[in-house]
Amino acid sequence: MRKFTCRFLAGCATAFVLAACGPTPPAAVVDRYDPAKMDLKPVPAKISAERHTGPFASGAALNLSAELKPLDPAPVKEVRLDTTHKIIEIAPGVKFSAWTFGDQVPGPAIRARVGDKIRFSMTNRSDETAPGMAMTAAPMMHSMDFHAAMVSPQDKYRSVAPGQTIEFEFTLNYPGIFMYHCGTPMILEHIASGMYGAVIVEPREGYPTKVDREYLVIQSEFYAKPSTDGQKVDGAPLYVLDSEKLRAAQPSHTVFNGSHNGMVKTPLPTKPGERVRLFVLNVGPSKTSSFHVVGTIFDRVWMDGNPDNQMRGMQTVLLGSSNSAIVEMIIPEAGSYIMVDHHFANASQGAIGLLSTLEKPKRTELEHHNMEASSTPPDAGAAAAKIAFESKCFACHSVGQGKKLGPDMAGVTKRRTEAWLTQWMKSPEKMLQTDPDAQAMLKEYNNIPMPNQGLSDEEIKQYIAYFRWIDAQPDPSKITAGGGH
Ligand code: CU
Ligand code: CU
Repeated sequence: MRKFTCRFLAGCATAFVLAACGPTPPAAVVDRYDPAKMDLKPVPAKISAERHTGPFASGAALNLSAELKPLDPAPVKEVRLDTTHKIIEIAPGVKFSAWTFGDQVPGPAIRARVGDKIRFSMTNRSDETAPGMAMTAAPMMHSMDFHAAMVSPQDKYRSVAPGQTIEFEFTLNYPGIFMYHCGTPMILEHIASGMYGAVIVEPREGYPTKVDREYLVIQSEFYAKPSTDGQKVDGAPLYVLDSEKLRAAQPSHTVFNGSHNGMVKTPLPTKPGERVRLFVLNVGPSKTSSFHVVGTIFDRVWMDGNPDNQMRGMQTVLLGSSNSAIVEMIIPEAGSYIMVDHHFANASQGAIGLLSTLEKPKRTELEHHNMEASSTPPDAGAAAAKIAFESKCFACHSVGQGKKLGPDMAGVTKRRTEAWLTQWMKSPEKMLQTDPDAQAMLKEYNNIPMPNQGLSDEEIKQYIAYFRWIDAQPDPSKITAGGGH
């Protein structure tokens, strides 16, 4: 068409027409990620002995919760995130000795735009303790690694000692949702202790769609065990990092936004007909997330949060450690839409939340994925058994919700003696050969024997302490996570 027009107008000498008819450059020539236009020479980092005082986080671009503020238009973002050691509650009654950026887990999210400069500073304040709080973790080196930056790690991501401050700046060259984390060895331990957060970088020209709501969902794992030297917080056991489970990639909790079922108790509000944009980051450190929202379909998925990486009509989005995505969806009608890691073993550990049109969703509406958080036994051994039970035994047992493949565990310490339970857990095979009660139970449960769990004597004691605690509760059906699943 254009060609025809040009021929028709051939001879017309005005510059305007010539310009309009000139050959359109092929799209590939215009690269919005042209390295020649990027800032790739940031100034060297500065380390000093001057320490920040006052708040542990500051900056107009920071977001402290799932609900995101609109973009702050300033082209230079001053961001301060100090490192702290603090006790956080990752699940009801599970008070965990964490290391943080900005005194919270996940650390505050930075929201900015391509072309913006981040002017970052961080004091290692791991040597400070909150008033009245005993020090739970020794002060140590920490550092900051921004996946959103293109800088020399040996310069900018250096570890600084307690009391030191590091400052550096960088320009945001690509849009996306980028992880930040501590990069001090053992990195695995620093991330699993809580040292991570997100940088949301919008395209220079903004997103191509308009939405009614924007929320941030960060998935991560905790590897918590009750402290073996009997440390307590407010009378309950202090939970510390379980390095063995950490290296084996066997989390005790997998959560959204730092808290077991946090967004079930406090759903993210929405309304029927709205378009919702979720910024989803999977921190890991070691698990993959299969992010899904029950009841709707992702109209658009922008992998790593960059609209150039677009997919349409997706049911789940698969995110490895430090992968992210923007997912947008329509909320079709009134209801509670369940955000979940569709790897259900992860969901059963707390990676679950709600987008809800209701002020307060009714319990029955959550039934399908009901994993309401629960209380914890005060005894450390029983608490450990509760975590183990909820991650391993729920496939076959409930607590106060009736029979499944195996018996309901509520009341078990009233039905059986401690000696019987000990022998049963130690060797179900042997019991089935010799014990009439065990044989009767096998018959009742369709001849499916309980597999030997390979429990140590200590673990068996812990399980029995946990079962006793269950039987001392006024309503056992209310005390477990996932009991109704
Ligand atoms: Cu660290
Ligand atoms: Cu990294």
